[in-house]
Amino acid sequence: MAFSRREFVRRLGGGGAGVAAASQLIRAYGTDDLLALEQGRGGGGQRPAATGDIIKLSSNENLRGPGPKVIEALKNYNFSNLGLGYAPPSLNGFVEACAAMDGAKPNNVILGTGSGDILTAAVMAYCNGDKALVTGDPSYGSPAQTAQRIKAPVRFIAVHPKTLALDLEGMIKASIGAGLVFLCNPNNPTSTVQTSADIEQTVRTIKQRSPETGILIDEAYLEYATKPGAFTMAKLALELPGVFISRTFSKAYGMAGMRIGYAVGQPDTMRKVGNAWGLGSIGELQAVAATAALSDKAHMQWEKMENKRVRDWTQNQFRAMGFETPESETNFIFVNIQRPAVEFRDGCRALGVAVGRDFPPMEKTYARISLGRMEDMEKALPIFRKVLGRG
Ligand SMILES: Cc1ncc(COP(=O)(O)O)c(C=O)c1O
Repeated sequence: MAFSRREFVRRLGGGGAGVAAASQLIRAYGTDDLLALEQGRGGGGQRPAATGDIIKLSSNENLRGPGPKVIEALKNYNFSNLGLGYAPPSLNGFVEACAAMDGAKPNNVILGTGSGDILTAAVMAYCNGDKALVTGDPSYGSPAQTAQRIKAPVRFIAVHPKTLALDLEGMIKASIGAGLVFLCNPNNPTSTVQTSADIEQTVRTIKQRSPETGILIDEAYLEYATKPGAFTMAKLALELPGVFISRTFSKAYGMAGMRIGYAVGQPDTMRKVGNAWGLGSIGELQAVAATAALSDKAHMQWEKMENKRVRDWTQNQFRAMGFETPESETNFIFVNIQRPAVEFRDGCRALGVAVGRDFPPMEKTYARISLGRMEDMEKALPIFRKVLGRG
């Protein structure tokens, strides 16, 4: 065996919590599988860190890929079922598995080919020329783009200037009479998270003051949040009409290329969103893979801890160089590089590292850097240093 229990515990960071977590994971996987995971292979064989020679730290995908149970489920799939008509045979099981995550029923769930489709559908359902979208500034841009495309007004609410967290008070004020409030939690690109208590208070206040306004809580990165008290708002979505959450398999589940996302809310809310835009369905192999992913709690726990290890290391490196970054609760960091993002991006790209695009209105000072595997970040660091003049 190439990898001892003691060595694994040491890599997890030692200490009581580390030992307990390592023992739990070893029971779940066995050490050989854990070695594969530790080496960034997921269950799927060697994964290249880079596209060509480029280390890709630009789109917040997960360079570790899916867990071993996903690969196992696909390898063991009975291919005589493949392509057998509408609906894909494994679809119902997947919807049931999504619903079961939150004690919901299948009619509380709608699927999308990625959660991006659900965001588009949400804006189409709740916004129009008279009904505005309320969103953070900066926040994930696709809802605002959809609103602009259908000529709905957009109320951009600046994040807090110091913490870069969503300004929930400001968003409440802007929500009166609005069509949809988009709460990206954690927020992309600023990487901050709000506690469930704060989100719940915000949602209830908006609903009291403006009952017809829809509220979408985007939880694309929530699996990565380690801040105490930051949980899913699925229960609130099941309780309140017009409130719903979206989730994706593109980030912590490591399946961005498979295009799977879903939303949870009351059946009427889900119908309204589903009817507004052709969400289509996901395919059979996606359903098989995603059902296996949901069942693998041990892998998700490992993924979360491994991301945190890489995140802590990377944040510390930037802070040691004198660059501020809000405490990230995601798989990317948002760094005040004290110069335009484009300069940093072009400099890094020329040396083989791709980082995030511009994020107005903060593109003159901040850059977003996705977190890869530890070895990707170790390779990228000297390049960051060089481009930032800290070589
Ligand atoms: C906050 C947020 N929501 C939704 C998405 C859409 O991702 P996907 O369509 O892959 O689920 C992204 C993609 O980066 C994102 O950052």
